[in-house]
Amino acid sequence: MSLILPEKATQPTFYFIGVTTNESSIMNIFPKWAKEVLEISNATIKGIDIEIRAKKDDYRDVVDFIKYDDLSLGALVTTHKLDLFEACEDMFDYLDPHALRLRELSCISKKDGQLLGHAKDPITSGLALETFVPKGFWLKNSGDVFIMGAGGSALAISSYLAQIKFQDDIPSKIVITNRSIERLKEAERKLKGINDKVAFEFIQAITPEDNDRLLSRVKACSLIINATGLGKDRPGSPLSDNSSFPANSLVWELNYRGDLIFIDQAQKQKVEKNLHIEDGWNYFIHGWTQVIAEVFDIDIDEDKFKKCEKFAMEMRQREARTDALSC
Ligand SMILES: NC(=O)c1ccc[n+]([C@@H]2O[C@H](COP(=O)([O-])OP(=O)(O)OC[C@H]3O[C@@H](n4cnc5c(N)ncnc54)[C@H](OP(=O)(O)O)[C@@H]3O)[C@@H](O)[C@H]2O)c1
Repeated sequence: MSLILPEKATQPTFYFIGVTTNESSIMNIFPKWAKEVLEISNATIKGIDIEIRAKKDDYRDVVDFIKYDDLSLGALVTTHKLDLFEACEDMFDYLDPHALRLRELSCISKKDGQLLGHAKDPITSGLALETFVPKGFWLKNSGDVFIMGAGGSALAISSYLAQIKFQDDIPSKIVITNRSIERLKEAERKLKGINDKVAFEFIQAITPEDNDRLLSRVKACSLIINATGLGKDRPGSPLSDNSSFPANSLVWELNYRGDLIFIDQAQKQKVEKNLHIEDGWNYFIHGWTQVIAEVFDIDIDEDKFKKCEKFAMEMRQREARTDALSC
């Protein structure tokens, strides 16, 4: 996939930097939110697709374009959060403390002629987790967290869950697996020492069978996360069909679209293992609303958030009906 940069913007434009951006529901949802809830109806959204682990110059060209194009206001970044940060750190006038600590960014915006980078995921993944992880879950159950994929989201989720402010309501162990060893080493460097009460393990898992083996050691009442992008960014699942989920656990697929085989695998064991299965929909809503608030410099209060959530859900149901009809 060769990079196609957008044309010079002729109206306030917000970008979505990802892999298959035109397939995202946000393309239909954003105009509705902009017009009906957020009062930014003159704004438009455009996707910029970049291949996974692209070359440094691609990331720099995209950031350079947004930085110097007057009506290009900013962007939400997914999948490329770590690589874009590494390639473009010096191009930003300001990077927030989360971005600097995790060396990733998910939000590009401009203010007073300056280019700003924020890592919103430690906040937005936390807001999403709060919708399905009951308060006191870790204290009551002493479960672990098993995350497949050591990318930007895995770092953000781990740093959210291991916060000192949660005192003893924290997982006793967070196990992160990844295909490449570099990402694991990087994750270890960034997460080490964030909370002495949480034991971190970083393990290379190249095949689904490797992840199956590691999953079989995870205790009951844990949180199992697919943060690899497999099922959306690339086909497949990090687990095989022979995997066995721990009982009474929470299962989180970070994506809500694609051929989510990981969710199907969990569904097959849902009743027998008493699993709670969650997709990435809430993460999606929190992620987008937080970034839009930053890029357009607006306040999205609880009332506006609820309206955004309602419009998005209506859109999702409509899309599901259309998909069902076209099958
Ligand atoms: N719902 C939402 O709003 C939302 C929000 C955030 C993220 N997401 C989604 O969550 C996914 C992860 O996001 P991210 O930003 O963390 O992406 P990322 O930085 O690309 O991380 C993915 C990681 O998974 C690893 N991986 C790939 N295949 C693997 C396998 N078979 N076994 C183990 N590890 C494997 C990759 O390692 P290698 O180094 O080996 O390639 C990479 O480190 C993306 O699909 C993203 O779109 C959704």
